[in-house]
Amino acid sequence: MQKSDVVKKILAGKKSSVSKLSQGVGYAPTNIALCKYWGKRNSELNLPVTPSLSVALLEKGAKTILTVSESEKDVVILNGKILNSDTGFVQRLCHYLDLFREQAAWKLHIDINMNIPVAAGLASSACGFAAISIALNDLFHWELSKQDLSILARLGSGSAARSLWNGFVEWHKGERDDGMDSYAEPYDVTWPALRVGIVSITHAEKSVSSRKAMQQTVENSVLYESWPKKVAEDLAKIKQALRTNDFTLLGSTAESNALAMHATMLASWPPVCYFLPETIATMHKIWELRQQGIAVYFTEDAGPNVKLLFLEKDVAQIKQVFPEVEVVSV
Ligand code: PMV
Repeated sequence: MQKSDVVKKILAGKKSSVSKLSQGVGYAPTNIALCKYWGKRNSELNLPVTPSLSVALLEKGAKTILTVSESEKDVVILNGKILNSDTGFVQRLCHYLDLFREQAAWKLHIDINMNIPVAAGLASSACGFAAISIALNDLFHWELSKQDLSILARLGSGSAARSLWNGFVEWHKGERDDGMDSYAEPYDVTWPALRVGIVSITHAEKSVSSRKAMQQTVENSVLYESWPKKVAEDLAKIKQALRTNDFTLLGSTAESNALAMHATMLASWPPVCYFLPETIATMHKIWELRQQGIAVYFTEDAGPNVKLLFLEKDVAQIKQVFPEVEVVSV
């Protein structure tokens, strides 16, 4: 099964014709997984080995405006700058758009405004592909459900399946070969006092893509066979923590889950290590703070940046220790 087969299923009976200069707009928040997605059971369709659960960051995300153009090729503008058409980011986007234009040869101006760095492990592809799916839905008046948009966003980047909603979101792994049951849904709890702190170590693009790192981990990491069991346990604990507002359980489970994910990569060959020395120094600082009685935990994705988890009441103390931290509500 190809991505284009899934697109055909979802768009059955819908039209994808547009006139020049019509526009579609989409906004999607970025999301940080508390229980991670690491490993695909189908890499063409980005179908995960396990379920995962994330929290969206308020006011951090991507706004995309698609305009049908007369150019011969797509033009991608990121934060006001036209991107060179042979960058990896542009090619990935254009291939994604190709899925939707089999018959019609329309080209687009893709104007993306993102307030997080691209490809630095801050989930830029998650909000990027979710925003594009929403904008396409707007452009063509498909009127798709968020569940269908979650499936379309997943075809661009797995974690994008979770970026259709604010708040806590669970991505079901699904069982079907065509992935029609592998979409995300909101996990209906709120936690207004929860804060995420972004400690930016570097904005540089990561050296190994998450796709490559995941594939290699699944193929040859001796630790990967224990990952699905770890996720099942952590997912249950995180849901319990969210239902009961148990911050210690939430933070400790999310941190342990992230470290276990990185451990699977470290045990693959060639090894994948997204940590920089500053990442490790930050982890030690957080462990010291906990020793001193401050409830702060961390999570990390496919990059060296660290995301702190803490409660609103501790903002001042966290800022004292991490003056550069960007505090985001959820
Ligand atoms: O969506 P991808 O293919 O970039 O994978 C991202 C995976 C992690 O960010 C490391 C974990 C997650 O669940 O978001």
